[in-house]
Amino acid sequence: MTGFTVALVLVVAAAGLLRWRRPAWYWLTFGVTLASIRVLVRYATVMDACGLTVPPSRWRLALARATNRPAPESRPPRILLLRPTRTGLVLRLKLRPGQDAFDVAAASDRLRHSFSMYGVTSRELRSGVVEVGMTGYDVLKRVQMPATTETRPMRVAVALREDGSVHYRDYRAIPHALTLGATESGKSVYQRNLVAGLAAQDVALVGIDCKQGVELFPLARRFSALADNPDTAADLLDALVARMGEVYQLIRAEQRITADTPDAEIAADIWDLPDHLRPTPIVVLVDEVAELALFASKEEEKRRDRIITALVRLAQLGRAAGIYLEICGQRFGSELGKGITMLRAQLTGRTAHRVNDETSANMAFGDISPDAVLAAIQIPAEMRGVAVAGNSTGGWHRIRAPHTTLRQAVNVCNRHADRTPYLPELAPFRPALPGTPAAPVPLSKAAPATA
Ligand SMILES: Nc1ncnc2c1ncn2[C@@H]1O[C@H](COP(=O)(O)OP(=O)(O)O)[C@@H](O)[C@H]1O
Ligand SMILES: [Mg+2]
Repeated sequence: MTGFTVALVLVVAAAGLLRWRRPAWYWLTFGVTLASIRVLVRYATVMDACGLTVPPSRWRLALARATNRPAPESRPPRILLLRPTRTGLVLRLKLRPGQDAFDVAAASDRLRHSFSMYGVTSRELRSGVVEVGMTGYDVLKRVQMPATTETRPMRVAVALREDGSVHYRDYRAIPHALTLGATESGKSVYQRNLVAGLAAQDVALVGIDCKQGVELFPLARRFSALADNPDTAADLLDALVARMGEVYQLIRAEQRITADTPDAEIAADIWDLPDHLRPTPIVVLVDEVAELALFASKEEEKRRDRIITALVRLAQLGRAAGIYLEICGQRFGSELGKGITMLRAQLTGRTAHRVNDETSANMAFGDISPDAVLAAIQIPAEMRGVAVAGNSTGGWHRIRAPHTTLRQAVNVCNRHADRTPYLPELAPFRPALPGTPAAPVPLSKAAPATA
């Protein structure tokens, strides 16, 4: 008996410790069973209390009356499936006549409290069937990506969503994206995750980092071109526009449409070209975009206009040529001058990290979804890296990227350095790698004096 008590106390203590220190492990060991039992046992009561039941139908009432039985009770939606997942539970419900998906969505906060879950979301699968996704703990507190993710060419698993699912950055679905956030909010870490994800794929990376290159230059071995000041950036963007023209020429040459060309063989973008002809897709990462748009003199103003024009052209026409933009900044509004709102309108994917004011959040979501603006302002300052990711259809999610350190990203980039494609147009901007200095090594105190 004492042995049993000791064992019980140990198990409870272990569960408590896990729940406190390692919620993900707690969920997989104890949490998922306890929560499933809790949901199944409380289901009818909770649904009734949350107003998700329907009164018995006329024929059931009539039947009860005819057979002299007590009146039947109100009925909750039928459970089609209860599936445990890595981070929570999935409950699939068949709605009763008269209920709609909005009823469930509106009750999600009540369900969350009643089932003692961390988060509850719902979505309609098909007419009459709603899937309620529940998370058992705060998955964004300590982001752990699942071991296997469905990566496809040009699609990177970049962050975890609040409901435990993986957030992908899919360049073929959403070619260009804008990431906003106050300083120290996690933009560069997000971008670093993208680089680490893309490094293993057949893609050329181009970086523009006007913060003297501190974020992207350490990753130089995987980059085909880098610029660390606005002057180089302007030349680099012009080279990209020129390359875009050449890719279009190539696509034109491949089209040669005649009456008997099958529809499936007509190429309109690089992905329709046969493998051996397809130019390497390029992802252009811009950190601190405002640096490119600021100017102090007439000369700099000319350069700025050149840069913004090139960016707008890439955003408008780049997709079919396989050139994708990933732009990060603290603010990206009309105060940065002409052309900015036009560029912003082309950046379909929007992500906002913590912002300091509503106007900044509006720059990301004002034209998409007012709820997302509110959610972006509410991100707490201590939860760095938490962001709101939306798309032009008005849907949005709270996400957080894993905390990839610069060291880890450098290791990934070095491991895949041999994948760095050589693009002749961008060769002048190829970063000088350690060991093959292109410029004379600057003098420092430690350097031996040269006579
Ligand atoms: N996803 C994340 N998870 C945990 N910590 C993060 C995350 N993103 C950022 N941080 C923390 O915030 C700090 C600032 O992030 P950074 O990306 O450099 O901000 P920004 O580029 O927006 O100024 C990082 O050094 C890191 O400690
Ligand atoms: Mg940064």
